[in-house]
Amino acid sequence: MIEFYSVAKEYHGRRVLKDVTFQVGRGEFVFLTGPSGAGKSTLLKMLFRAERPTSGQILVNGMNVGIMPHGRVPELRRSMGIVFQDYKLLPTRNVFENVSFVLKFLGVPMSERKRRAYQTLRLVELHHRLSALPEELSGGEQQRVALARALVNDPELLIADEPTGNLDHRLANEVMKLFAQINVRGTTVLVASHDMDLIRSSGRRCFTLDRGRVLEGLVEAALPPQAQGKRDLPVHEEL
Ligand SMILES: Nc1ncnc2c1ncn2[C@@H]1O[C@H](COP(=O)(O)OP(=O)(O)OP(=O)(O)O)[C@@H](O)[C@H]1O
Ligand SMILES: [Mg+2]
Repeated sequence: MIEFYSVAKEYHGRRVLKDVTFQVGRGEFVFLTGPSGAGKSTLLKMLFRAERPTSGQILVNGMNVGIMPHGRVPELRRSMGIVFQDYKLLPTRNVFENVSFVLKFLGVPMSERKRRAYQTLRLVELHHRLSALPEELSGGEQQRVALARALVNDPELLIADEPTGNLDHRLANEVMKLFAQINVRGTTVLVASHDMDLIRSSGRRCFTLDRGRVLEGLVEAALPPQAQGKRDLPVHEEL
């Protein structure tokens, strides 16, 4: 589903990713971790062609996303649900409109849009806030709207950048349960997260970004001391 081969990425000559090679199979649920600035968001952005690799190949569903023609990018993005680190909600649209926007774009009739938006918002416990504007919601609530928006289209691939960053422990666990449900229904899930406890307790496969490379497993030595677990773990703990 996702294949990276020797991918490098530079911004203005500054190398963020050096040599990234890893694969995620269809139907898997994997985490991506690493210190702040390691390139997690950059890596995710290349999957939906918001950024292009400086060199190397990235295949998503067999499509070479780095070199695909611009005209095919909408098709690529329609197969994905994306939860951005900064939500990217439309500030002048209410919760229902934010969540159902993509369905409208795809020509889904209003009655069906209502049904699906309501159902998805129920999953994130926000079905009672349909007409609220983003500015009227807390950070965690906005994050859950962004999540509902990514899920409403039943995507083949769900990409989430720090989806629990603004949530308390209970809601973070609820969101993880939700991802697990989505995954069981066949969606491939890739989640970038700093939350070592969450990753560890999930028992899922994890990749760690370390100095421009991807290491398999939850490699705590690559993370800053405050993010490392208090337990006396071996340096290379594979989940
Ligand atoms: N558009 C850009 N132009 C220039 N440099 C960028 C751009 N986007 C990201 N960078 C740089 O690339 C590096 C990786 O950034 P990125 O956002 O991918 O890190 P991250 O692992 O997601 O960090 P965080 O955990 O803080 O979200 C950083 O040093 C950042 O300053
Ligand atoms: Mg980031």
